[in-house]
Amino acid sequence: MNNKVAIIGTGHVGATAAHVIAQRELADVALIDIVEGMAKGKAIDIMQAAAIQGSGIEITGGESFSLVEGSDIVVITAGFPRGPGMSRSDLINKNAPVIESVIEKVNAHAPDSIIVIVTNPVDEMTLFAFNKSGRPRSKVFGMGGALDTGRFIYFISRRLGADASDVEAMVVGAHGDAMIPLVRQAKVKGEQLADLLDPLEMDELVESTKKGGAQIISLLKQGSAFYGPGTGVASTVEAIVKDTREVIPCCAVLDGEYDVSGTSIGVPVMIGREGIIKIVETDLSDEETAVFMESAVSIRQALESIG
Ligand code: NAI
Ligand code: 2OP
Repeated sequence: MNNKVAIIGTGHVGATAAHVIAQRELADVALIDIVEGMAKGKAIDIMQAAAIQGSGIEITGGESFSLVEGSDIVVITAGFPRGPGMSRSDLINKNAPVIESVIEKVNAHAPDSIIVIVTNPVDEMTLFAFNKSGRPRSKVFGMGGALDTGRFIYFISRRLGADASDVEAMVVGAHGDAMIPLVRQAKVKGEQLADLLDPLEMDELVESTKKGGAQIISLLKQGSAFYGPGTGVASTVEAIVKDTREVIPCCAVLDGEYDVSGTSIGVPVMIGREGIIKIVETDLSDEETAVFMESAVSIRQALESIG
């Protein structure tokens, strides 16, 4: 029997994730959205794309959460993106009720599923979903660092004319302006980035990565990135269903790791069939630690402010 993934919210990111999952034949997919007909329409379209490729997975779609039944993984992309003039806390206030109602329904239909949060602000929404879901923290985490890491690798590979597959790099911390591209640890073909570029050039790569999402938003004029995020979701799903145990930066709820508790933030995690197998504590410089700690506190405080 195939694995099953439910994707709640079949907008740009949700539908793209479903398409990549289908192309990689990772799992059957159920698409759910409140907009009538949209999830079903996209499910049929993705199934027809899969037929061209000869992929043997099943995609269903509709408005009813009964479609979630039997899911091993539930990806939540439902909610609103940040609009013009909207603060981070405005977005929390808008998306927290969406996450709360979705979690309630997911619990009714797939109480043992692993939940992957995508809805922004993903760090706060992951902590909120964890609090509401009643699941262990190994089974509720957020996708954000995988996307930021993809962007960091993209900028490094472009700068050095290297293949992306030759770049080893990672981004931790909050998914936002305070993200921490681990530039000192980055390598290209096994060589330290610091031996290939001067500090100013490395700073430029860090800045481009931090502004990667905003750059796409300003070019699209409407909405935000979805190919990168959708692929980030599919790769996370792949690590779970294939039990790869690879280390992917994800937003995880911390309980003592990095000397932080009661908050969630992007850290390297080993992902497998049971969700988070292990949180990896990587070395951070004093400066990186300060930024990390500040974000960890502000994420917890932002959630406390909504109760
Ligand atoms: P979108 O607007 O294209 O899709 C969101 C979908 O959610 C819509 O189709 C909407 O009808 C649906 N929805 C809203 N409430 C729902 C509910 N209660 N039940 C089911 N469906 C519901 O937005 P897009 O671009 O797909 O982004 C989705 C979210 O993901 C946003 O919050 C965005 O900021 C976030 N995001 C996060 C990323 C990350 O790395 N964590 C990357 C990109 C986007
Ligand atoms: C991104 O980084 C908006 O979180 C979204 O593209």
